[in-house]
Amino acid sequence: MAFCNIKKSFKLFKLWVFLRPFTVMLIVVVMVGVLLMIQTRMKDFIHKNVVFVQFDVQENVGVKNLELIKLQNRSNKGEILSLSNSPYQDFIHNNDISVQFDEQIKVGVKNIEPMKLEHRSNKGEILSLSNSPYHNWELFITDYEEMMKTLKIFVYPDAFMSNKSSTFSSIFLPHTNPFDPKLGNYFSEHMFKIALLGSTFVTQNPKEAHFYYMPFSINAMRNHPQVHSASAIEDFVAGYTDRIISEFKFWNASGGADHFYVYCHSIGRDAASKQQELHHNAIQVTCSSSYFQRLYIAHKDIGLPQVWPRQHEEALNPPDARYKLVFFAGRVQNSLARQDLLELWKNDSSFDIFSGSSSFPYKEGFRRSRYCLHVKGYEVNTARVSDAIQHGCVPVLISNYYDLPLANVLDWSKFSIIVNERDIPHLKKILLSVPRRTYFNMYKNLGIVRRHFAWYSSPKEYDSFHMTVYQLWIRKGLHRVAW
Ligand SMILES: *[C@@H]1O[C@H](CO)[C@@H](O)[C@H](O)[C@H]1NC(C)=O
Ligand SMILES: *[C@@H]1O[C@H](CO)[C@@H](O)[C@H](O)[C@H]1NC(C)=O
Ligand SMILES: *[C@@H]1O[C@H](CO)[C@@H](O)[C@H](O)[C@H]1NC(C)=O
Ligand SMILES: *[C@@H]1O[C@H](CO)[C@@H](O)[C@H](O)[C@H]1NC(C)=O
Repeated sequence: MAFCNIKKSFKLFKLWVFLRPFTVMLIVVVMVGVLLMIQTRMKDFIHKNVVFVQFDVQENVGVKNLELIKLQNRSNKGEILSLSNSPYQDFIHNNDISVQFDEQIKVGVKNIEPMKLEHRSNKGEILSLSNSPYHNWELFITDYEEMMKTLKIFVYPDAFMSNKSSTFSSIFLPHTNPFDPKLGNYFSEHMFKIALLGSTFVTQNPKEAHFYYMPFSINAMRNHPQVHSASAIEDFVAGYTDRIISEFKFWNASGGADHFYVYCHSIGRDAASKQQELHHNAIQVTCSSSYFQRLYIAHKDIGLPQVWPRQHEEALNPPDARYKLVFFAGRVQNSLARQDLLELWKNDSSFDIFSGSSSFPYKEGFRRSRYCLHVKGYEVNTARVSDAIQHGCVPVLISNYYDLPLANVLDWSKFSIIVNERDIPHLKKILLSVPRRTYFNMYKNLGIVRRHFAWYSSPKEYDSFHMTVYQLWIRKGLHRVAW
């Protein structure tokens, strides 16, 4: 018996000796697992809570900011060379995170005040990269702030001179009542001029200007008895351009490449057709920005947000209160895409599709629907996009080759759905397949980007005016010959 027990114990002992290394390994594996879990939880916590601002910022934008914060301390010690000696206009932007610390010190990096970073993350604007409506918020805001300090624009004097003996001065002067609902679709054009003339960007010193503004209004010409037709507008614009070429010396320094004009009326697209340098070189800022527009040049020209006159911000209706899937109301005669839409979806009870006006107030459509369609009419653009954004209705853009405004700053895929015109038959399937979380994120992002799609009588930071000027800013840096 005893012998048997001893034998048994011996066998157990041998088994234990054999198993021991595995047990130890098992314990180690379990411990590592637990540690990993804790770490992930912590990360989540840090992400969800902006308590650890500095950490959060680093997580989102990488090592760069840590270095910059260090730099600021150094700059206080006077180790950074003065910016005016730097060969770079904006070193941070032209360089990657990988750039060496010492290299940055030598050439002088502007300080990003840590204060500002904190302020922003408190506002919840630094979102996780994958959901942010910005391609790169940090780069954008740094450059934007530089613009606010630096940008200078020279305005040709016609915008300031009320010449009683000239019948054309109304074409150049700022509109006196831009919120007049009659201006409707061309509101953005007038608001740009008013905002610019009242801004600190304007300089009297043409030498320090980055850009030169040609202040003619296509919309005013359209309503002017002597310049009404498309061809009269072309002649007027060509004549005006030739006049500033001969009267002032600024144009010839770059062949007009630092000159720009702004309009929202699509008739303006031909305005430059009789002046070759104006067409090839000058920057056209237009609502009708389309890759397939004959006289629109992508990357040179700029898409202007088209916004309907609106004095006040609307409170957003929450997603749960939106009981219709889709809203669209508008003329359908002017586009095949709209006709298809009407044919295919007018009977579907989850769609509110109207040929002409809706049976309820227009605004109501944007408030009660989850998605609001922007469908190409004569032009790629309408004010529906900003209407939808302003009302928190996720825009569905069915307008092929629309060069979307601000697309180099904003990631439109994070707050809108872009559908090829040929996919109108699949529209419902496409919209119903959007995951709930994605929808909520797009809705939330509308609340963030809506300030970029609004004009104010007194311009505000990041509004359509400043965002459009920012588009000019990133086209700066031309070589000019001396005048
Ligand atoms: C700057 O340096 C001091 C110590 O010299 C440190 O306490 C402080 O946190 C630093 N500030 C930043 C923004 O890094
Ligand atoms: C005012 O307009 C008239 C007619 O176009 C022109 O002859 C005159 O030179 C203008 N005066 C000024 C100060 O620009
Ligand atoms: C600019 O150049 C054009 C010809 O290229 C010339 O006719 C015009 O007089 C020049 N303008 C000035 C102000 O010198
Ligand atoms: C919509 O309804 C009308 C009549 O109610 C019918 O003639 C038409 O074929 C329907 N269209 C579709 C796409 O189902």
